[in-house]
Amino acid sequence: MAKITASVYTSHVPAIGAALDLGKTAEPYWQKVFSGYDFSKQWMKDNKPDVVFLVFNDHATAFSLEMIPTFAIGTAAQYQPADEGWGPRPVPQVMGHPALASHIAQSVIQDDFDLTIVNKMDVDHGLTVPLSLMCGQQDPVKGAWPCPVIPFAVNVVQYPVPSGRRCYNLGKAIRKAVESYDEDLNVQIWGTGGMSHQLQGPRAGLINAEWDNRFLDRLIAEPEALAQMPHIDYVREAGSEGIELVMWLIARGAMSDKPPTVRHRFYHVPASNTAVGHLILENT
Ligand code: DHB
Ligand code: FE
Repeated sequence: MAKITASVYTSHVPAIGAALDLGKTAEPYWQKVFSGYDFSKQWMKDNKPDVVFLVFNDHATAFSLEMIPTFAIGTAAQYQPADEGWGPRPVPQVMGHPALASHIAQSVIQDDFDLTIVNKMDVDHGLTVPLSLMCGQQDPVKGAWPCPVIPFAVNVVQYPVPSGRRCYNLGKAIRKAVESYDEDLNVQIWGTGGMSHQLQGPRAGLINAEWDNRFLDRLIAEPEALAQMPHIDYVREAGSEGIELVMWLIARGAMSDKPPTVRHRFYHVPASNTAVGHLILENT
């Protein structure tokens, strides 16, 4: 049977992608950000999954105000890096896993979660920046990401957004779906976005390091209680874009009920307008 072996959590700042693509990683400002992922890139090589289930948010790239799915699962065979206004990132296309994705859609929808099924979608920085951080730069044509990826998009851009509780319970349904797939696959689930940041209005630039670190502590040790936090607390304490953090609860809900092993933890301010947080948790 397929099994979720580990979860990865990371911010997805677009300027990180630009720093990688423009060869700026050695600059002192960026060096501090990327230093937090040296361990992770080696860990990915040592623990190469068969599939990554990647929870992310689209930033009005593939979707727009014309259509706003709360949860959307990618069942396609491949996805192209999106043009977000300055050309697509020079990274490889993302190969999907239609068989596992369709199985998860079947199981999770029958478990009463409404998923939108997506067979064509360009993927923006929300998905490609976490891949770059964890897997390093790859040649856009001759290179490839290390494994297939199932993109799972969550609406955290246009209100109303899903609650942390619903995200956490959805994670549990995803775990059940993966564990009922009849092939021995090593599956990682990634929760991306966050941490505290606000890109607009009078509070633009807001960072709350104390709150972020408490979120990391609680995500590790008491995710069930953390999942009860209402969305207004995210917005008030972590800024309007801090709400991206509810996606981390999907990945955490998909982990085993036993306490996980914390393989890696990193926190750094700033990267662009964002506090960068990163965790690797392994199932024990
Ligand atoms: C920034 C962060 C984001 O999460 C995003 O989607 C866009 C920009 C930033 O820090 O600049
Ligand atoms: Fe974002």
